[in-house]
Amino acid sequence: MRSHYCGLVTEQLTGQTVTVCGWVHRRRDHGGVIFIDLRDREGLLQCVFDPDTQEAFAAADRLRSEYVVQITGRVRPRPAGTENANMTTGKIEVLGQTVTLLNRAETPPFHPDDETVGDDTRLKYRYIDLRRPEMQNNLRLRHQVIKRIRDFMDANGFIDVETPILTKATPEGARDYLVPSRTHAGQFFALPQSPQLFKQLLMMSGLDRYYQIARCFRDEDLRADRQPEFTQLDVETSFMGQDEIMALMEQLVKDLFQGVMGVDLGELPQMPYAEAMQRFGSDKPDLRNPLELVDVKDLVADVDFKVFSAPANNPKCRVTALRVPGGAKLSRGEIDKYTDFVKVYGARGLAYIVIEDKDKGRDGLKSPIVKNLHDAALNGILERTGAQTGDVIFFGADTWRVVSDALGALRLRVGNDLGLTASGWRALWVVDWPMFEWDETDEGGRWVSLHHPFTAPKPFDATALRADPGATLSQGYDIVLNGVEVGGGSVRIHAPEVQQAVFDLLGIGAEEQQEKFGFLLEALSYGAPPHAGIALGLDRLVMLMAGRTSIRDVIAFPKTQTAHCPLTNAPSTVDARALRELQIRSTVQPKATQQQSPAADAPGAA
Ligand code: AMO
Ligand code: AMP
Repeated sequence: MRSHYCGLVTEQLTGQTVTVCGWVHRRRDHGGVIFIDLRDREGLLQCVFDPDTQEAFAAADRLRSEYVVQITGRVRPRPAGTENANMTTGKIEVLGQTVTLLNRAETPPFHPDDETVGDDTRLKYRYIDLRRPEMQNNLRLRHQVIKRIRDFMDANGFIDVETPILTKATPEGARDYLVPSRTHAGQFFALPQSPQLFKQLLMMSGLDRYYQIARCFRDEDLRADRQPEFTQLDVETSFMGQDEIMALMEQLVKDLFQGVMGVDLGELPQMPYAEAMQRFGSDKPDLRNPLELVDVKDLVADVDFKVFSAPANNPKCRVTALRVPGGAKLSRGEIDKYTDFVKVYGARGLAYIVIEDKDKGRDGLKSPIVKNLHDAALNGILERTGAQTGDVIFFGADTWRVVSDALGALRLRVGNDLGLTASGWRALWVVDWPMFEWDETDEGGRWVSLHHPFTAPKPFDATALRADPGATLSQGYDIVLNGVEVGGGSVRIHAPEVQQAVFDLLGIGAEEQQEKFGFLLEALSYGAPPHAGIALGLDRLVMLMAGRTSIRDVIAFPKTQTAHCPLTNAPSTVDARALRELQIRSTVQPKATQQQSPAADAPGAA
């Protein structure tokens, strides 16, 4: 139907007749001359109709926004002074000779140019939202990244294998999406949170190098970088140690940035988990931000100020300072806002010292707490943080988790607010994770895996692990880019007795081990090679490359914050017969009945 894409008609075609197809982006009537900006996936093309070509002029006059048309005309230079340097097609225009209306359009709910449309409307009319060039560019970028990944994996001997979508629950830590079975009434499949166990089984099959662009499903609280279904580049290898697989994956990520973005990421530094938490209060530190947490526990153990001295004398607590260069300019109101901000992370307050004039000693400091700090503590803090005139120091004093979370988040926020965070790309590996973390929120407390339960301990020894689970590190690794966790993986457990030790420590009883993971334990006993792998969050990677802050912008049909699809209206109820076949009865009252019955907390409710 066409000879050229609209966006590819350039001055090289001057004098030629072209046929283009697309959407009417805009129609302008300029005193007897009609301009149609025609849009297709390659861009915009200005088509001009003058009254001499009567029929075409009349047809062009009837066109409206988003009508789909075919236009034939001759390419000519735009009159001097009307060129548009911002458009690839900005030097020329097409003098229209014929217009064929291919389809009409109702007035769309929003113009593809409109940046102010709310998220729900954008998702309800996603096909219109996706007409925007930015969105099309994002999808193309995603395509390029996946194409390059496939080329790289193929060149390195990896085989693409599909794994089941209807499967059994895998413990990645989120809630499962369940699918009822009709043929096994009362039983359910789970959608995979990742292909983790299948890819390990493929290593036991001798496949040696597996990869998959895999869809994963997790029913968890959603955020800008979390969707209920998302895509991983999922990888597993046999006979590779931690250093080898990390080197290979680093090469891939560097290749993607070089090939798709023209960016050299440089060599990725490796940082132990403990150092990341200590210096940045985060296991995914954004190294573009220069601010660091500085522990001052030892300096304030004997001060009068209980807010500091109590946690300073508690081994489970942390007392930490965050020096912000130039932060003295923050107003009282801004500091109050930061105080509210850290409270979201459980902090009970945000003590601070403003250094108005360092040379004046105590008199040069503005702070609600210095009166409670003796000279040695105060001088020690100023010296250790390197504070200068014009700075502010913030403090966190609480449990290790609360202080790390609160000041880690404050560090990012202040860095952005004050423009301290550099632009560009900073990637790193976070390594030497503890195997387990003690979760106190559960009754009596229990060990939980920091990665997943198939991650190998360092050293790879069941007895040592059982002897001191809290102190054992794992052979896990995360890849972090600009403060976003873009991937995680580990060397796996390939010996049944080590796997059993981990299950035992996690409090998974013998019966549950058999019921849930019997097939894995059995497979491990029939000759499992040492193996290791990783999964990269493809949506997050493409989001970063596209310069976006939400993965929704790089997914064609994403879901809302409440895991709903406004376009198709999924999830939705199903008819009673379908439920009967599955032998399932819903206990949810139909909406109308719910409204009639009195609310449980209404006055007079039983
Ligand atoms: P993990 O759970 O760390 O590891 O997931 C790997 C990567 O997937 C991305 N990711 C997500 N992206 C969007 N929405 C989500 N809800 C979401 N959850 C995770 C992150 C993360 O780094 N089987 C292991 C991998 C392995 O050990 O090989 C796994 O799934 O970028
Ligand atoms: P207070 O003595 O409770 O009035 O607190 C004095 C200062 O310490 C205030 O600026 C509080 O915001 C701050 N503060 C209180 N609790 C903490 C805490 N756990 N960590 C850091 N600062 C705190």
